Amino acid sequence: MPVVITPASDADVPFIVALLERCTLPVAGWRDHVKTTLVARDGLAIVGSIALEAYGESALLRSAAVEVGSRGRGLGSALTKAVLDLARSRGIRSIYLLTETAGGFFPRFGFQRITREEVPEAVKQSVEFTSACPATALVMKLILDGDPPPTPDPRSRLNLRSP
Ligand SMILES: CC(C)(COP(=O)(O)OP(=O)(O)OC[C@H]1O[C@@H](n2cnc3c(N)ncnc32)[C@H](O)[C@@H]1OP(=O)(O)O)[C@@H](O)C(=O)NCCC(=O)NCCS
Repeated sequence: MPVVITPASDADVPFIVALLERCTLPVAGWRDHVKTTLVARDGLAIVGSIALEAYGESALLRSAAVEVGSRGRGLGSALTKAVLDLARSRGIRSIYLLTETAGGFFPRFGFQRITREEVPEAVKQSVEFTSACPATALVMKLILDGDPPPTPDPRSRLNLRSP
């Protein structure tokens, strides 16, 4: 069965929490943002997630996770591209993230390292910034271009690489 990326639903919450915990990512503060969370589904299983916390024209990208057995096939990249399209469709102009483990992953999408001082106050007041993520985490930023998102295709099938 092909893997598809779709918006998350309330029924997905326990499975996303379990995935984040298996990936040792913080869960605190995420449940308020289920409506801007995407999941990768492989049949009935959720094998990936990514979320956006919108704060006006800025947003925090968080909870990017792929099940260990599904990594290295392009799924993390597909989730990231999908959440950037979601951000564009919501009029978001700049995206921030914190990471301890994926500082080498996000630059391929244009994210650049910045200091915490450069982060807008609204984003800095998110749970992830204030408490869930260690002060040693890298901070990264991406300015989105003004291009309109491609035609939405919420159940698009992914052509994933072989592991
Ligand atoms: C980061 C993560 C989502 C990537 O998922 P994935 O499905 O393996 O990613 P892809 O298959 O799309 O990888 C694309 C490329 O990024 C590289 N890459 C993947 N994870 C990376 C990481 N943590 N650091 C640096 N590079 C990484 C891959 O090697 C691959 O490189 P290639 O194109 O040269 O072969 C996944 O490794 C993960 O869940 N990690 C644990 C949780 C985490 O750290 N999340 C980030 C929190 S902000």
